[in-house]
Amino acid sequence: MKRTLIQTNDGSHSLRMEEMNETYHSIHGALQEAKHVFLKEGFHQTEGDVSILEVGFGTGLNAFLTMLEAHKTGRITHYVGIEKFPIEEDIIRTINYGELLGEPEWFDELHVLNWNMEVPISDYFFLIKLQKDIADTDFTERFDIIYFDAFAPEKQPEMWSKDIFSKMLNALKPGGILVTYCAKGQVKRDLKEVGFEVETVAGPPGKREMIRGRK
Ligand SMILES: C[S@@+](CC[C@H](N)C(=O)[O-])C[C@H]1O[C@@H](n2cnc3c(N)ncnc32)[C@H](O)[C@@H]1O
Repeated sequence: MKRTLIQTNDGSHSLRMEEMNETYHSIHGALQEAKHVFLKEGFHQTEGDVSILEVGFGTGLNAFLTMLEAHKTGRITHYVGIEKFPIEEDIIRTINYGELLGEPEWFDELHVLNWNMEVPISDYFFLIKLQKDIADTDFTERFDIIYFDAFAPEKQPEMWSKDIFSKMLNALKPGGILVTYCAKGQVKRDLKEVGFEVETVAGPPGKREMIRGRK
């Protein structure tokens, strides 16, 4: 699995999966995409203490931004990040999110933590990184928000199946939301079919729309 470090248009790094010819983030800007899709349209649509499931932990960018925001707002945040293919440590060390956001030690800390156990990173942020395939994961816990950050449907269609969407619906509390950068019509129809209320909202720079589903 060859991953190459790339720079996106806002100066933040991302990775390209060579075999798939797919990037981890928008080439218009990884940081601005993550802030818009997952923070503005996800985290900030809820109030108070919150539990979050991320599908595709990857570089940890979404977890890192959420941790910083949890601190800023004083919201206790429980975060579960699922990842089937964790990124090698030598690649993680080259990624510039810690420096860009002025918290290099915290970014490193997210990555040196053990997998598969809950770790209190601070008084506000509790993280479990689960090394698992989402298809084989059953949730007993229910979440307020799901950050659905899989590779694009054309590249990894099995992640955007109705089976996975039903699993996501079951993993949400009533009123909970799922946010994704994707805005495809088929994805909206399939989310609706399994029972989500689907909203199309403005996307990050370079992308007209994105999807928010509500249970
Ligand atoms: C578009 S990338 C986004 C990663 C991450 N959110 C980030 O900001 O770096 C998709 C991620 O989903 C992971 N993934 C792919 N298939 C998966 C599966 N079946 N279960 C869990 N994670 C998976 C990939 O390894 C990759 O890290």
